[in-house]
Amino acid sequence: MTDQAKTQKIQKINGVRGMNDLLPADAAQWAHLEHVLRDLTRAYGYEFLRTPIVEATAVFQRGIGEVTDIVEKEMYSFEDRLNGEQLTLRPEGTAAIVRSVVENNLLYEGPKRLWYTGPMFRHERPQRGRYRQFHQFGIEALGFAGPDIDAEIILMGQRLWDELGLKGVRLEINSLGQAPERAQHRAALVTYFEAHKEQLDEDSQRRLLSNPLRILDSKNPAMQELIEGAPKLLDYLGEESLKHFEAVQALLKANNIPCKINPRLVRGLDYYNLTVFEWITEELGAQGTIAGGGRYDPLIERMGGKSAPACGWAMGMERVLELMKVSGSLPEAQAQCDVFVLHQGGETLTAAMIIAERLRSAGIDVILFCPPDGQSASFKSQMKKADASGAAYAVIIGPDELAKDEAQIKDLRASGQQKAVALDSLVEAVIDAIVGATE
Ligand code: HAM
Repeated sequence: MTDQAKTQKIQKINGVRGMNDLLPADAAQWAHLEHVLRDLTRAYGYEFLRTPIVEATAVFQRGIGEVTDIVEKEMYSFEDRLNGEQLTLRPEGTAAIVRSVVENNLLYEGPKRLWYTGPMFRHERPQRGRYRQFHQFGIEALGFAGPDIDAEIILMGQRLWDELGLKGVRLEINSLGQAPERAQHRAALVTYFEAHKEQLDEDSQRRLLSNPLRILDSKNPAMQELIEGAPKLLDYLGEESLKHFEAVQALLKANNIPCKINPRLVRGLDYYNLTVFEWITEELGAQGTIAGGGRYDPLIERMGGKSAPACGWAMGMERVLELMKVSGSLPEAQAQCDVFVLHQGGETLTAAMIIAERLRSAGIDVILFCPPDGQSASFKSQMKKADASGAAYAVIIGPDELAKDEAQIKDLRASGQQKAVALDSLVEAVIDAIVGATE
């Protein structure tokens, strides 16, 4: 123990609240999800785009909108002390993707289908399914105006839930129309809520003038009846908007995708128009929205690009993994390696290390026993580790084996059989055993 440790107990440093480590025990589940997502994006012709985790704050202020929960109170924004730049840890992907598309002129040759994944940051109150650092997978289809692409991205979502074995996910859909339609509806909403001002909570009173549409999103039970009776945006949609919405629904129906129209679905980000949707489950408690998105035709121009339509969605990966757990569809834990190599230190360690390297060169995953104390350990305790690793075979090299230029191969699963093999032909023997077992 150091002198410092003796005089004062050294405090450990914990991670930031709401920001979690991905522990080794869960890594395989994430890898599985990422694998499925990669296959999904390939199946629909989506290309990967990675943007930085930090962007100029203006990207989100302008992109998501000043009067949104995210921009008003959830962003990790700071000034770069070294050059005074105003920066923000990205709270979502869409605004950043559009920033990159505009900056790199990616729509120059025509529309683009893009996907991304990575950590996002929102300063919310942490609870089950809600974190301050969480991970999104998202897709964005840019440069497409028709309802076909709205339907396609929704089909992608449905295919994903099916492939992941998720149960109890429902699709809710709405149309936010176009800006002039929303302006008319907004005026009607303001008149309605002003007439019932005394029933509005503090948050909603504030929103009455800044963003009355978001009042409809309120979860306050005392206001539900009032909200239920409010003018509905769908009643203010013009012919074009209705046609688009109906076409999306018809395509979903033709593909047997059930959906529920929810006139109160407004989403928490300001860039949307026309189709918006969410996938919701009752299985995860309060944080039951596993994914959401919609059309955001105004955004590219708003971010300084040449006007172009676009739509997309993003899902919370933690929530989807949690729902996979609840649905019993998480993959089984995988073995850490194919072969576990045991030895008795000294020359047997040297031989074991050389053999482990040869096996790896042949494409076999190997864990070589390393005694925690740097000494050697009994074969019995090593064998316990070999069993726990999930390896199919153990290769054992003790002094007796080494004296004969041999090693033992032990089947750790089916037969438990053990046989001596010459070191020269060990790699082939292990490959034969593995191939034989899988045939
Ligand atoms: P969003 O609805 O804000 O949309 O987030 C998408 C998903 O991210 C949510 O449905 C949820 O599963 C997950 N999520 C959000 N906040 C948290 C949190 N604090 N902890 C855990 N998971 C969370 C967007 O971000 C849009 N960019 C979606 C989009 C893409 N629209 C068009 N393209």
